[in-house]
Amino acid sequence: MPSDLTIVVLLSGRGSNFKSLSQKAKHYRIIGVVSDKPEAIGLAYAREQGVQALAFARSDHPNRAAQRAALYAAVRKFNPGAIALAGFMQILEASFVDEFFGRIINIHPSLLPAYPGLDTHARALAANERQHGCSVHFVDSGIDTGPIIAQAQVQVAPNETEEQLAARVLAREHELYPWVANHMAQGSFKLRDRKLSYSAEMQREARDLDFILSGDK
Ligand code: GRF
Repeated sequence: MPSDLTIVVLLSGRGSNFKSLSQKAKHYRIIGVVSDKPEAIGLAYAREQGVQALAFARSDHPNRAAQRAALYAAVRKFNPGAIALAGFMQILEASFVDEFFGRIINIHPSLLPAYPGLDTHARALAANERQHGCSVHFVDSGIDTGPIIAQAQVQVAPNETEEQLAARVLAREHELYPWVANHMAQGSFKLRDRKLSYSAEMQREARDLDFILSGDK
């Protein structure tokens, strides 16, 4: 089936989630990758795949506002159906988020609302959590506060190191994010008054794949 949903990915680093989104795209098409870091490894992978990849370094602009404006303009120029943040380390301005609200999604390495922000694995371990995981959510103007679409849980093993836990969560991120994006492209879930509703098929698949949908808990 030809895909209708066009996605621009924003990233700042390694780009493993972008790679997974790219490899598992069934109902969407990644039409561009935009970064605030020219050295981001994800940009090189995008170019190898023939995807247009653009970088807007802080050093190429007189100030941060100018850098942001250039980056936002580049994203708008793609005229994407959706925007997927995949390790994008800048906080988006509220006006940009509002412009695309309901069409910007993010992957975060914790079971939100627990552990928004950075160092999620270390914080979960320090708190002796038994359950950890990752979340895909709509982006709003807060930090990792937007409506949660779906999550994947990981049981924390006794004596697990931060690196081991991070790797196991990342493996689940690589499954969860493309699954959500493919369902977004198919219109399998809807956002209304910051609440999610899901198609029966998406709910069935979530049970099979051991993903948690918002409202399940
Ligand atoms: C991932 O852990 C993601 O959850 C977080 O940033 C990291 C990006 O990793 N938002 P990668 O660049 O996709 O490998």
